[in-house]
Amino acid sequence: MAENHKLWGGRFEAGLEKWVEEFGASISFDQKMAEFDLKGSLAHVTMLGETGIITQDESAQIKAGLEELLQDFQAGKLVFDISNEDIHMNLESLLTQKIGPVAGKLHTARSRNDQVATDMHLYLQAKLSEVIDKLHHLRQILVELAAEHTDTIMPGYTHLQHAQPISFGHHLMAYYNMFTRDSERFEFNQKHTNISPLGAAALAGTTFPIDREMTAQLMGFEQPYSNSLDAVSDRDFILEFLANASILMMHMSRICEEIISWCSNEFKFVTLSDTFSTGSSIMPQKKNPDMAELIRGKTGRIYGNLTGLLTVMKSLPLAYNKDLQEDKEGMFDTVETITVAIDILAGMLDSMTVNDVHMAESTEKDFSNATELADYLAVKGVPFRQAHEIVGKLVLECTKNGHYLQDLPLERYQEISDLIEEDIYVTLQSKTAVERRNSLGGTGFEQVKWQVEQAKKALDRSLF
Ligand code: ARG
Repeated sequence: MAENHKLWGGRFEAGLEKWVEEFGASISFDQKMAEFDLKGSLAHVTMLGETGIITQDESAQIKAGLEELLQDFQAGKLVFDISNEDIHMNLESLLTQKIGPVAGKLHTARSRNDQVATDMHLYLQAKLSEVIDKLHHLRQILVELAAEHTDTIMPGYTHLQHAQPISFGHHLMAYYNMFTRDSERFEFNQKHTNISPLGAAALAGTTFPIDREMTAQLMGFEQPYSNSLDAVSDRDFILEFLANASILMMHMSRICEEIISWCSNEFKFVTLSDTFSTGSSIMPQKKNPDMAELIRGKTGRIYGNLTGLLTVMKSLPLAYNKDLQEDKEGMFDTVETITVAIDILAGMLDSMTVNDVHMAESTEKDFSNATELADYLAVKGVPFRQAHEIVGKLVLECTKNGHYLQDLPLERYQEISDLIEEDIYVTLQSKTAVERRNSLGGTGFEQVKWQVEQAKKALDRSLF
C-alpha cells in the first residue's frame, strides 16, 4: 500500500488510490483562484509577523516566496499537481519547494476552510466590479440607441399582438431600467461579499492572538465575519450572485428573443451586423442571430447553476462539509458566461441597423390606433365603456371589409357619432398616438427624452 505523503497525511498509514484522489481533487478548477489565494496568504503572513506569532524574519521569507509565486503565476509558470488536491495545498507545496520548511509556518492559525472561503470572497469581489462595469457599458449603449430612436415608431405589443404604437426609444429604455436594477442588485451583493472569513480557522477560531481586522484591511475587505461558523460554512454571497445573474440573464434572454424576432423576415425591424451573425453550412442565404440565441440558451445553464448550489446547500449541517467544494464550478461558469454575454449583447445592439421606416410602417396597417378612437369619443363625453363598444364594432366591420380605421370615410364616422370630425384622421396616426401619451413614464416623445436625460445623468454619476 502506498505511503501517504499528503500535507494532512500524518494520521494515515495508506494513501489514496489515484482514481479516488481524482474524485476528491478540485485543482482542475479551483486554480482560477490562485492569485486570490496568494493575496490572502500574503495578508495572513503579514499579520502573523506583525503580531509576533511567527518572527518578522520568517514572515519576510514567506512573503518573498509568495510574491515570487505570484509572479510565476502571472507569467504562466506554475505547474499544479493533482496529488496536491486543491489550489491551497498546491501553492503551499510550491512554496515549500521555493523556500524550504519555513513555508510550513504559513498555515499557523489558519485552515483551508477559512482559506477557501476567503479566496471565494476575493474572487467574487473582483468579478462583481467587472460585471457592474460591463453593465454600465451596456446601459450606455442602450441609452445612446434610445436617444437616437426617441422618435422612431414601432408597434407596442401585448400577447405578441399589435397593441398601441410606441417609441422604439421607449422600448429600449425599458431594458435600460431592468439592467440598472440588475446592476444595483450586484452592488448590494458587493456588501455581502466585502467581508473577510480569514481567521475563522477550521470552524471555531484559534488560540493564537491573530488580528482579523488587520487581515481584513490588508485584503481590502470592510470587516471580518463576526461568527467563525458562519464564516466558513455559508455561501449565501455566491447564491446571491447566482440569483442576480439569473435575473440578469432572464432580462438578456428577453431582449435577445426580441432581437431574434426583429431580424426575422416577418418583422424586418432590425438587421444585425455581419460581425454578430453566422451563416448556414447548407443554405447560402442564411444570416442567423446565433449570438442572441446563445444568450437565450445559456440562460438555462445559469438557472441550473443557481438551482445546483441551492440544492448542494440545502440541509447542510454546520460547519464545513466537503459538499461545499461543489460551490465553485457553477460560480466560475456564471462569471465567465455573464461577463461575455453582456459584452456580446452590447456589441450586437451597438452594431445593428434599425429599419426605422419599416418599423413605423408596420403600425400603419393594423388596428393599434383603436384606443385613440375610443379615447377621442371619451374626451367628447361618451362614457369609455360605450366608446369601447362602438370602436369594437367598427374594427369588426373593417376586418370584414379588409381595411383599417383610418380608411373609413368621414360620412361613415358621422353615421356613428356626430361628435367625430375631420381631425379624427390626425388622431388616428401612429405619430399622434405616441406623441400624445405624455403621462409620466409614458411613451410620448417628451417623456422618452426625459427618461434618456435622467439615464445619462445617472450613468455619469455612477462613473465617480
Ligand atoms: N478544496 C476544498 C474546497 O473547495 C478546500 C477546503 C478543504 N477543507 C477540508 N476540510 N477538507 O472546499
